[in-house]
Amino acid sequence: MPKHYLFNKHMIMKKIFIPIVITSCVCFSACTISRSRYSTYQYHKHIENQNLFVTEILHREFDVIKRTLQILERASNNLDDGKPVSKETFSEIVDIILGFSDKHHQEKEDKVLFPLLKDKNEGEKKDFLGRLLMEHVSERDMIRNLAGAISNFHQGKKAQKKITKIAYTYIKHMEKHIQTEEKILFPWVNMVLTRDEQVMLIKKFEEMEKEDIEAGVHEKYTAMIERLEEQLGIYIE
Ligand SMILES: [Fe+2]
Ligand SMILES: [Fe+2]
Repeated sequence: MPKHYLFNKHMIMKKIFIPIVITSCVCFSACTISRSRYSTYQYHKHIENQNLFVTEILHREFDVIKRTLQILERASNNLDDGKPVSKETFSEIVDIILGFSDKHHQEKEDKVLFPLLKDKNEGEKKDFLGRLLMEHVSERDMIRNLAGAISNFHQGKKAQKKITKIAYTYIKHMEKHIQTEEKILFPWVNMVLTRDEQVMLIKKFEEMEKEDIEAGVHEKYTAMIERLEEQLGIYIE
């Protein structure tokens, strides 16, 4: 298991308390904090701190993505080792990736951040953005393939091997993608975006997620992640 995953929950707990001022909006009740131990998406409630960086938001979303990857890895290990793991567990993981962690994160990049960066007119970086966009396409293809393989879960060993093969490829691909964004994309974003652009992007991010926040989507998926972590025995000190 990749070592950096071991710190995710601890880091997320810490992040609840970092000085980003967040106030409750009507749709997100205060009791969320006590109900959800890790409250991964607390900062989505309403971002008041105008000094928040776009990359901080994206970086924090990686916490959720990494936790989801860890769950997928553990479920795949169990399946390979003949330990109990159900088709429903894999289906739920795909559901989280499609409906929550990956969807929100990639949409912010694809629809809002990358188009703005493209206009920064830095030739070589256009290729870099194209590469990241292609990686997003590959990731979505892999998840589609994974969902297809999961539908054949009960066909036996060969069908299950296909699931874990796609899962491991996806995990590896995502780890590399996250690393590239953290090492190259985020420092670049922090360098080229003006304060006004940062504020404008953060507002757009909020608008994109408004409906999901109001519908309690973040809470639903955070609860799913926590339940799967417990179910699979992923406990982090
Ligand atoms: Fe990203
Ligand atoms: Fe990305």
